[in-house]
Amino acid sequence: MENNCKNIGHYQPLAGAIIEELKTIVGKGHVITEGEKLETYSHDETDAQEYGHSPDAVVLPSSTEETAAVVKLANRERIPITPRGAGSGLSGGAIPEYGGIVVSLERMNRLIEIDRENMTAVVEAGMVTNDFAQAVEEQGLFFAGYPMSLQTCFIGGNIAENAGGGKAVKYGVTGRYILGITLVTPLGEIVELGGKIAKDVSGYDLKSLIIGSEGTLGIVTRAIIRLIGLPTSKSDLLVLFKTPKEAIDLVPEILCRGVTPTSIEFMDMLSIQTSCKYLNESLPYEDCGAMLLIELDGSNPNQVEADLIETGKLCESRGAMEVYVAEDRNNIERIWNVRRNIAEAFKVYSPVQSLEDIVVPIAGIPGIIPELEGLGKKYGMQIPCYGHAGDGNLHATLVKDPDMSMEDWKKNEKACLRELYEITKAAGGKISGEHGIGIKRREFLKDLVSPGELELMKSLKQAWDPNNIMNPGKIFI
Ligand code: LAC
Ligand code: ZN
Repeated sequence: MENNCKNIGHYQPLAGAIIEELKTIVGKGHVITEGEKLETYSHDETDAQEYGHSPDAVVLPSSTEETAAVVKLANRERIPITPRGAGSGLSGGAIPEYGGIVVSLERMNRLIEIDRENMTAVVEAGMVTNDFAQAVEEQGLFFAGYPMSLQTCFIGGNIAENAGGGKAVKYGVTGRYILGITLVTPLGEIVELGGKIAKDVSGYDLKSLIIGSEGTLGIVTRAIIRLIGLPTSKSDLLVLFKTPKEAIDLVPEILCRGVTPTSIEFMDMLSIQTSCKYLNESLPYEDCGAMLLIELDGSNPNQVEADLIETGKLCESRGAMEVYVAEDRNNIERIWNVRRNIAEAFKVYSPVQSLEDIVVPIAGIPGIIPELEGLGKKYGMQIPCYGHAGDGNLHATLVKDPDMSMEDWKKNEKACLRELYEITKAAGGKISGEHGIGIKRREFLKDLVSPGELELMKSLKQAWDPNNIMNPGKIFI
């Protein structure tokens, strides 16, 4: 099948007359075309030097209808569109690689309703995830999504990437809580997918196709979210181990008991130290090689306490050096703050790096750490590792040695990634568990999925977006 992603000539330049039309649709003050302001929209959390690209214009619609009118115009004129949430993505999904128009959802940030009787909420895509979580919590309800960037990321971005995060072991990833989606298709039509319903086999499950499709099949402007009862009790264990292997080996064992923790997060020494240094924080990490951060929650404090004790005992019996209990909100938040900031800290102290998010079946987790150590030695780089061990989802981070030339780094990074992805595939895993393919991994994806699967993905894209204007170049090329 012909795919004209790379054919930049296929697209039309953004002429002055079209900019005027955009201003008519969203209002004069909501179209950005000047150099410096555009810069903000030229990158996400990936390396701006390597992946950044400026849009020709940024439009900030205030409604689904305005968004649809912008997309209709872009489709008519063959101008690439890149949907954008908070720009906290880690694979280049919101970068306008072909220029054209960035559609930023930032003005569409309203919580439309909380429907207690149906345990749902309706929210616009540009609402900050944490603001949403707090608003429903005030009503005694719970949104279980917990990406590490929750203080900045938007609900729309969480849907586009099917974000995982820190509570997925027990509660699952974002998609589990998305009941309905308002979508602006690449042709500029508005469609409602799903609804306030728990089940739906009325034709293809298009809503699920959109979740995790990285903004390539349309722009999500609004979502119906499933809420659950707020767990009123939670406690955390911070468990210290001598070696990363000892910590990670225990993960499947913790999961195989009857109790499902909310989270089992893994952090190796370098990850902890780097984040603590960045935050000017201290955790009791002397002499340890890795930590597990295990959270348990529920509505019965006695049960949570009993589960906590049992889990702590299991860790001790398997050679943990120390088991600390954090029960008050302050301490829990301090520890999670260290965990949440690891990626940002590496970005500051080791800016030349590649942050990965491979995922394997949980029983395959113990096999991964020794492989990372082997790859680090082979390619002359450090590969610190942290992440959502309870989901089999690890953030191995390839970090450039200061003495390595940029040229060697590029070569080694690529070879090391290829090998890491092959190892992941051999373990029954996938190359991205939560950050997506975007620009960053597309050259690898094509070799790691079967030709049949890749062809099906491309045919879907072709059918939904015949002019290839919607976030072109992402996932595959
Ligand atoms: C985290 C991000 C990098 O888990 O996914 O910290
Ligand atoms: Zn993560």
